[in-house]
Amino acid sequence: MIFDDNERIVTGDYIEEDTEIESGLRPRQFSDYIGQEKVKTNLEIYIKAALDRKEALDHVLLYGPPGLGKTTLAGVIANEMGVNLRITSGPAIEKAGDLAAILTNLSEHDILFIDEIHRMSRMVEEILYPAMEDYALDIIIGKGPSAKSIRLDLPKFTLIGATTRAGNLSAPLRDRFGVISRLELYTNDELVKIIKRSASLLNVEIDDEGAKEIASRSRGTPRIANRFLKRVRDFAEVKFNGKITKNTADAALSSMEVDKIGLDNIDSKMILTMINSFGGGPVGLDTIAASIGEDANTIEDVYEPYLMQLGFVSRTPRGRIVMPPAYEHFNLAKPEEN
Ligand code: ADE
Repeated sequence: MIFDDNERIVTGDYIEEDTEIESGLRPRQFSDYIGQEKVKTNLEIYIKAALDRKEALDHVLLYGPPGLGKTTLAGVIANEMGVNLRITSGPAIEKAGDLAAILTNLSEHDILFIDEIHRMSRMVEEILYPAMEDYALDIIIGKGPSAKSIRLDLPKFTLIGATTRAGNLSAPLRDRFGVISRLELYTNDELVKIIKRSASLLNVEIDDEGAKEIASRSRGTPRIANRFLKRVRDFAEVKFNGKITKNTADAALSSMEVDKIGLDNIDSKMILTMINSFGGGPVGLDTIAASIGEDANTIEDVYEPYLMQLGFVSRTPRGRIVMPPAYEHFNLAKPEEN
């Protein structure tokens, strides 16, 4: 696949080639799911309680940057509950009737996963309220004065919604989730474990240093780590007799223009603009967005979490500021302290 300017190899967003990569690598149970310890611990308790009571699990909202394993987690939850998982997304549900059809086809305690749930239309969203709250579907039959509303019972199901930001959901929808969990970027140690697990499933040999090299460039994101692993494997097979070492990983990732810590040109442009045009900040998010020609929400949800994890950027009430580690990374003099 060739990447144009709009498609970054370091994007956490789902891209076409991830289908093949992710399908075989997804953990199926909590014991194989690495990281997100807090979310996992809580969910394991809620699942056990629901199973003991023979009830459906409460509705769950998962939010956080793309690529952190929200769909994977929904699969694990369904598997641990012993129920079916039905996957759809906000933009895919065009009409209220589409959602009604999905809901009426669920079985008792099944899980409906709606990705990008913040992109659902208002009409569709309103079908969800009684469905989530009362397991019921309100249907209007006929038109005008003779129109009648009838209520259909639905199986007791669990909705798992995923979004990059919980703040984008309407309050009535958000309030109907019993469990709201934020997924965090993964640490390098967690990514190393994920990469080693994936390498073993892909039957490719990798040493510790090779796994660390891929991890430190994967922006805290398993989807990116697995994508890199596959690219590095190609490199290893063609040029380095099959084994992934620090050298192989470095050669492959450098050729893809991913720098030592996973930054690409958009991140660099953002930091350098903040330094060169705004004295390192504080500068408002919208100003940064306009200066580099990116969407403010995308910066906040996709770029910034990793820059903050690195300690390169900090949010203050007066705007974003560039922190010392960023100056060091780009070999620039820090502004004089006042
Ligand atoms: N693959 C993608 N995400 C993962 C995770 N959290 N644990 C194990 N393997 C994964």
